Amino acid sequence: MTEPSAATPTDAAPAPTSGLENLLTEARRFPPSPEFAAQANATADLYSWANADRTTFWAEQARELLTWSTPFTQTLDWSDAPFARWFADGRLNAAYNAVDRHVEAGHGDRVALHFEGEGGDTRALTYADLQREVSKAANAIAALGVRTGDRVAIYMPLIPEAVVAMLACARIGAPHSVVFGGFSAEALSSRILDAEATLVITADGGFRRGSASALKPAVDEALAKGAPSVQHVLVVRRTGQPVEWTEGRDVWWHDAVEAASAQHAPVEVEAEHPLFILYTSGTTGKPKGIFHTTGGYLAQAAYTHLNVFDLKPETDVYWCTADIGWVTGHTYVVYGPLVNGATQVIYEGTPDTPHRGRWWEIVQKYGVTILYTAPTAIRTCMKWGEEIPGQFDLSSLRVLGSVGEPINPEAWTWYRRVIGGDRTPVVDTWWQTETGAIMISPLPGVTEAKPGSAQVPLPGIAADVLDDDAKPVPNGAGGYLVLTEPWPSMLRGIWGDPERYKDTYWSRFPGMYFAGDGAKKDEDGDIWLLGRVDDVMNVSGHRLSTTEIESALVSHPWVAEAAVVGATDETTGQAVVAFVILRGDATEAAGSDAATVQQTLRDHVAREIGPIAKPRQILVVAELPKTRSGKIMRRLLRDVAEHRQVGDATTLADSSVMDLIAAGLNKPAASSD
Ligand code: PRX
Repeated sequence: MTEPSAATPTDAAPAPTSGLENLLTEARRFPPSPEFAAQANATADLYSWANADRTTFWAEQARELLTWSTPFTQTLDWSDAPFARWFADGRLNAAYNAVDRHVEAGHGDRVALHFEGEGGDTRALTYADLQREVSKAANAIAALGVRTGDRVAIYMPLIPEAVVAMLACARIGAPHSVVFGGFSAEALSSRILDAEATLVITADGGFRRGSASALKPAVDEALAKGAPSVQHVLVVRRTGQPVEWTEGRDVWWHDAVEAASAQHAPVEVEAEHPLFILYTSGTTGKPKGIFHTTGGYLAQAAYTHLNVFDLKPETDVYWCTADIGWVTGHTYVVYGPLVNGATQVIYEGTPDTPHRGRWWEIVQKYGVTILYTAPTAIRTCMKWGEEIPGQFDLSSLRVLGSVGEPINPEAWTWYRRVIGGDRTPVVDTWWQTETGAIMISPLPGVTEAKPGSAQVPLPGIAADVLDDDAKPVPNGAGGYLVLTEPWPSMLRGIWGDPERYKDTYWSRFPGMYFAGDGAKKDEDGDIWLLGRVDDVMNVSGHRLSTTEIESALVSHPWVAEAAVVGATDETTGQAVVAFVILRGDATEAAGSDAATVQQTLRDHVAREIGPIAKPRQILVVAELPKTRSGKIMRRLLRDVAEHRQVGDATTLADSSVMDLIAAGLNKPAASSD
């Protein structure tokens, strides 16, 4: 099935000349400190080096950052575009690169993973430990019949065994398909079927918000729907909950893995051998199995992790808060950091268990130096108040990263000031499941940072912003973000559906990858991401970004979080409807008067952006509907704003949120003026 809205982003896209070119003017600038710049991995000449010969640049990165069992002689084969082949005649093993070679280089005693369980249990695994565990697990899954090329589904909490399981698959060249542990049995089932997995690796459960939550029942339910390819289920005991057991099919991890030999020879695979499949939502109902291959993906994962986060493997303690169920967890928890020999923290639980300072307590405890998280988390912490992080020693931090959605300048500056002590560079990194690794981001020792902008394509990456006629827009104008040259970690396709791959990404602008995002170039040519093109509104012929209005709302001291949607309006085509969560003290400040809050915020938006952007309606809500990955589901808010029956809310992290919002709607709403 094709993706109509991605392939034909007609009126939903931002206009190249909206008349609102200066909306995203953000005057504050944060140049790197001379001390940081002096020690940074990446220097400005990386850009000129890459621009001089992009292909050779990538070949050199791939040679330098990875260990090849058979060195490649070809760099890029684009003759069958858009199907790319990178480093195709080379051979390597991903797990060997992530683990064994560090032990062979004498770093076996270096901690690879500091695991922090939600309940406070901890484990540290050195690279030598990881080599032993991954080898045993590889032998165990091979004994269960998994062969090179077979697919393995992984449905686990964020515990060390999850990382070990992924690497064990990579060690035998069996592509893994990690399914986020928060997904339902239904979602798991469709992914197992699509990938035709032969093995499912899971756990009895994990700890979440202070209690044990089960995982194995969802696997049982998914397999009960029929999954002819699955032969075994390998189960880690994490919580000790009772589990249903299917004899002959189910196997305990501690029986199979602990009994297995710690000697295992990694399987050398071709660079283009699939490393993993990761399902992501498209604009249609059917998730897309994005697949990545080995050599190019690892090269760009390592390169970006080293340069964007300025990693020093001997001294840094790195922490990416993503779950392994998302691409960020693949590239910046598992492959990037481990291929680079980093020491990192992984944390099983939520930021507020058992208290709202848990993350900052972890930063203090392990002396975390590099933190990579999402704007939604930053805004949640803002909502909780800066006195919470203020109770912990965060002075070890030296680089902060953001990913997943546009970060509004207020959140950016709060992150840098409150978490980074006004000292750390902040890197806003744009990329996607499909791109495999970071594509657009400042370099922390080089780029003068602008809060709210991802700024520039990394050295080696070529991006542009095009108008409807596929022409690059001038500085100051908006359009569609495209990637104009192939890159090593690009998706190699949609599993089992090459046509959908071509239609979704390569048909809108022939010869270019269409990312599905709206973007704008500022007067310096820096790129500002404006959100998915389907989240852009058209009000009275003016195109407005939800992101811009949200950013304006959040810049008001009363607002903790905001989501904006375009609702159909008889007069103006679309009208802006905003849902806001107020900070604790805001209602007090407004004299507990909802009408005052609404009027003040409408005026504030008018002041920040212009009267055209004034929300028709502002609804004060207690929560926003978010998916389990933290994305706001604007589709549901649009249903509310347009007085429709709320659509499918099953992917919400908390399905009662929509009831709360509906209840809040019965209160008097603001009128338009
Ligand atoms: O809209 C962009 C947004 O997230 C989308 C990709 O989502 P996903 O495949 O789930 O990967 C998320 C983690 C890489 C993009 O199309 N996005 C991601 N990073 C940013 C962003 N939007 C603005 N700024 C970012 N830094």
